[in-house]
Amino acid sequence: MKAIQMNTTGGPEVLQLVDVPDPQPGPGEVLVRVEAAGVNFMDLMRRKGMPFDIPTPLPFVLGAEVAGTVVAVGSEVRTFAVGDRVFGQAGTLAGGGWAELVTANAANLFPIPPGMTAERAAGLTIVGVTAAILLIEAAKVGEGETVFVPAAAGGLGGYAVQIAKALGATVIAGASTEQKRRIALELGADAATDYRGEGWPSKVRDLTSGRGVDVALDPVGPQHLSQTISILAPFGRLISYGSLAGYEGTVDRAALSSVLYNPAPAQSLIGFNVTHWLTQRPEASFAAAGRLFTWLAEGKVSGPTITSLPLADAAKALSLLEEGRNIGKVVLIP
Ligand SMILES: NC(=O)c1ccc[n+]([C@@H]2O[C@H](COP(=O)([O-])OP(=O)(O)OC[C@H]3O[C@@H](n4cnc5c(N)ncnc54)[C@H](OP(=O)(O)O)[C@@H]3O)[C@@H](O)[C@H]2O)c1
Repeated sequence: MKAIQMNTTGGPEVLQLVDVPDPQPGPGEVLVRVEAAGVNFMDLMRRKGMPFDIPTPLPFVLGAEVAGTVVAVGSEVRTFAVGDRVFGQAGTLAGGGWAELVTANAANLFPIPPGMTAERAAGLTIVGVTAAILLIEAAKVGEGETVFVPAAAGGLGGYAVQIAKALGATVIAGASTEQKRRIALELGADAATDYRGEGWPSKVRDLTSGRGVDVALDPVGPQHLSQTISILAPFGRLISYGSLAGYEGTVDRAALSSVLYNPAPAQSLIGFNVTHWLTQRPEASFAAAGRLFTWLAEGKVSGPTITSLPLADAAKALSLLEEGRNIGKVVLIP
């Protein structure tokens, strides 16, 4: 079968289209013929050799999430049969999905809901389910609250805008270009602003008549954290869930002081990791995922735009994310 394999870590050139033996499902696993595979930041971190909490033994086929059809079933699998259409996490190490065939633990798969395309399903787990758990469980967004969603024209941001709206919140979207801000408004955001330029926090505060937001998301990392703290309303929650600009930089002491000591307005800084939630709090996590699937079925959430590229263009697809040029969710089609 064809697969995108890397023999070493590095730049886009390490991703090579190669022929490898077909994988075989082990106990508890199914073999999936991939119809679409998601492209995620975790693939980028692994391609670059950045610290990552799941091992990446070389040679490695990237691709943490897929959608497709079950073509073989290993022993001990009761939940799926040949011919079922499924989506979810690929491989035992959240990899192997950028290929024509992949094995997956049956426990990590869901049936593709009727009417949903493979492209939509392939990009649903890592950004969609994450956004649902993050907003519903970690941030506990309530009706009438205001939520700040940066990178709102991207994958996770696109879902976050619509999930926050479904929860009854007002959404202020952050996006770096005029085109991306328009997309965020089309997704349902109530207002959109640049969040990368000088003085962006004061624009967000102005949009809340100076009060600040109840929930602020931060995928950018230490470089942005101090500024994001400054847009929190009393009792506000800041959820940090990514480090798009790297781990360099520290939180400004004055910013931390304003949360903890003076005036200490009962705000919270919350770290977020979806794997921890799914493994340590599965009931709450699957309940949040279930609410997202219901909203998708009802049309209350439609999800971000999908950009589909052929499997052979995997390196280019990952570079779109690396350079922040993607619109919505990027998926690969074998
Ligand atoms: N903690 C978890 O469990 C978890 C799970 C899934 C994803 N994530 C994280 O969520 C974040 C978003 O993931 P995604 O797949 O949905 O990506 P995405 O939002 O579709 O794409 C990234 C967007 O981030 C913005 N951005 C800001 N600073 C950037 C920079 N220095 N380099 C590149 N892009 C930058 C860009 O939008 P603008 O041009 O509008 O700024 C870009 O389009 C990532 O940090 C990812 O690691 C975390």
